[in-house]
Amino acid sequence: MAAKKLIVGNWKMNPKSRREASRIWEKISKGVSRFKKINMVVCPPFPFLPLLKGKMQLGAQNIFFEKEGAYTGEVSPPMLKSLGVGYVIVGHSERRALGDTEDIVNKKLKAALSSGLTPILCVGERERDLHSHYLHLVKDQLKSALKGIQKNKIGKIVIAYEPVWAIGKSAKGVLDADEALHMNIFIRKVISDIAGEGTARKIKVLYGGSVDVKNSAEFLRVGKMDGLLVGRESLSPKNFLEIIRNANTL
Ligand code: PGA
Repeated sequence: MAAKKLIVGNWKMNPKSRREASRIWEKISKGVSRFKKINMVVCPPFPFLPLLKGKMQLGAQNIFFEKEGAYTGEVSPPMLKSLGVGYVIVGHSERRALGDTEDIVNKKLKAALSSGLTPILCVGERERDLHSHYLHLVKDQLKSALKGIQKNKIGKIVIAYEPVWAIGKSAKGVLDADEALHMNIFIRKVISDIAGEGTARKIKVLYGGSVDVKNSAEFLRVGKMDGLLVGRESLSPKNFLEIIRNANTL
């Protein structure tokens, strides 16, 4: 049987209230159990995590790399584990823009793995250039994020390819599915060089960046992605469930 597709909803800093968060969550949870070929994870903001505990898998949008101590405002991996969180997004471009350096991303990745959380490592270029420099950039991001991580642990990481220019409301466009396939192959080649062919074959690669009801299935079918990281559309239960329904038919 083919592996289940991993569909991750990243709510970012939305919605504004716990009431609204519960409302969205309830609608999604009611609809999702029908889709047996999908593994769904929702990543709400930290304060909503305890409200949404239950039937579905939860992810966090960030973590700190220390377990406890005098780090005002930070949230540790064991805290997330104690709330039943299974996944955590690391290295999202919006966090990188707020100061997460390659070194911090590497530390967060290690901290997530050693606490038994599944990290979703985001990589992606700011823009596409004619000389394919963006490929080097993605390669460098992967190399520095994975530095010092044991080869047998690398296969546990989920990689999300998110071209920054295709993310969010101000996206300059959407990647086409053929380009997604090229990047999928490229990422696996880099992983193969770092951790061997076996890991490269089994590691999950997701696509993220303006995924919607219309384009989602193509990234999975043509781009051969193992799943999707969905931002805006994951806040609309109707559209998110439609994306999941489409993925379930493949
Ligand atoms: P978007 O966000 O789907 O709203 O483009 C994706 C992401 O940032 O993970």
